Amino acid sequence: MANGSKVSFIPGPVNPSPEVMRALSEPMPYHRGEEFSRMYEEIIEWTKPLFGAEGDVIVISGSSTAGLESALAGFSRGRNVVAIVDGKFGERLAEISSLYAREVRVIRSEWGKTPPQEELEASLRGADLLAVVHNETSTGIEHDMDLIADLASDRGVDLVVDVVSSIGGIEVKGDRWRAKALVGGVQKCIGAPPGLAPVMVRDWEGYRGAPYYLDLTRYRSSAMGKLRQTPFTPALPLFAALRVALREIHSERLEARFLRHHRAAELLREGLGELGVELFAHPGELGKMSDTVTSFVVPDPEVVRRELAKRGILVAGGQGPLRGKILRAATMASITEEDVQLLLSQLGEILNKITSKAPS
Ligand SMILES: Cc1ncc(COP(=O)(O)O)c(C=O)c1O
Repeated sequence: MANGSKVSFIPGPVNPSPEVMRALSEPMPYHRGEEFSRMYEEIIEWTKPLFGAEGDVIVISGSSTAGLESALAGFSRGRNVVAIVDGKFGERLAEISSLYAREVRVIRSEWGKTPPQEELEASLRGADLLAVVHNETSTGIEHDMDLIADLASDRGVDLVVDVVSSIGGIEVKGDRWRAKALVGGVQKCIGAPPGLAPVMVRDWEGYRGAPYYLDLTRYRSSAMGKLRQTPFTPALPLFAALRVALREIHSERLEARFLRHHRAAELLREGLGELGVELFAHPGELGKMSDTVTSFVVPDPEVVRRELAKRGILVAGGQGPLRGKILRAATMASITEEDVQLLLSQLGEILNKITSKAPS
C-alpha cells in the first residue's frame, strides 16, 4: 500500500488506489438530481454484501463516530445497555451510550484480552441492548461475534455492532448476528478516503430518534423517495470515491479479499514469531487474533516506529494506556504479502541493531 514512496501499515486511513483518488476530482453532481441518486443507489447495493445483511444502508457525511452515535442514540435511548470494553473503541461505545441510555453496564477487561464469557452472560440478564466492537483496532482482537450475538439473542437482547475496522476485510454477518444496526468505516478495509459513515439498519423497531443531524429516520425518508437523496448536502467527492472503492472490492470478489487479508495477517504473525517478537493480544474466550490489525511488543516501540518510518514503512503506536508500549500494523485494503515481507525484513534489521547496541 504505497503512500508516496512509503508503505503504510497505519490502521486507517489507508491509502486509496489512484483510481479512487482520481474520483475525488470529478465534477460535482447536483445532489438532488438523478446522477447523485444513481451513485447513492450503487453505493447502497454494493455495501449490503459487505454488511452481510439485507437492510437499509444509510451513508452519513461524517466520520465513523457519527455513524456510531446515530445508531446508539436511537437504539439505546432510555434503555439498559451493556458494553464490552476491552479497548479504545469499546470505551467509545460505552461513552456514547451513556449519553442516551438509562444505564450502561460495562464489562471490562484488560486491553488485549477479552472478558470472561460468564461475566457477559450475567450482565446480559435484564439488559435491552448490547453494544460491541467486532474488530477492536486498538488491540488487534476480533471478537467472536457468532458467539456473542447468540448470547445476546438467546436472552432477547438487541445488538449494535461497530464493524468500522472489519468491513471489507473480514466477513461481517449482520443477518447471522441478527443485529439491529451495524456501523462501518470507509477509510480502512474498504480503501476509500475518510469522512463517510455507512450504517446498516436491519430492524427499525425501537429506534427512538437521535440528534437532528444524526437521526437515521431523516436519512431513511430522503432515500425512500423517487430519487435516492440525503437530508443534508452530502460530501459529494467522498461519495464518488467510495463508489470506485466499492467497485474495486466487488471486482476482486469479497471472498478473495477476505482470504488476502487473512493470508497477509497470518504471514505477519508468523514472521513476528520468527523474529522473536511477542504478539500483544491474548484474545481469550470471546475473541481471536484480528486479520486486519496486529499488535506486538518490541523494546522501545517509539524508536522502532521512527526507524521504520525512516526506511519508508509506517506503523502505528499504541493508544490510550498502550501508548509507548506496543506497535500496531494493519493488513487492510490493498496490502500485499510482499508489503508484509518488507516490513518483517526491515523490522528484523532494526531489532538486531537495537539488541546489539544494548549493554549486556
Ligand atoms: C473500531 C473503530 N471504531 C470506531 C472508530 C472511529 O472512527 P472515526 O475516527 O472515523 O470516527 C475507529 C477508528 O479508528 C475504529 O477503529
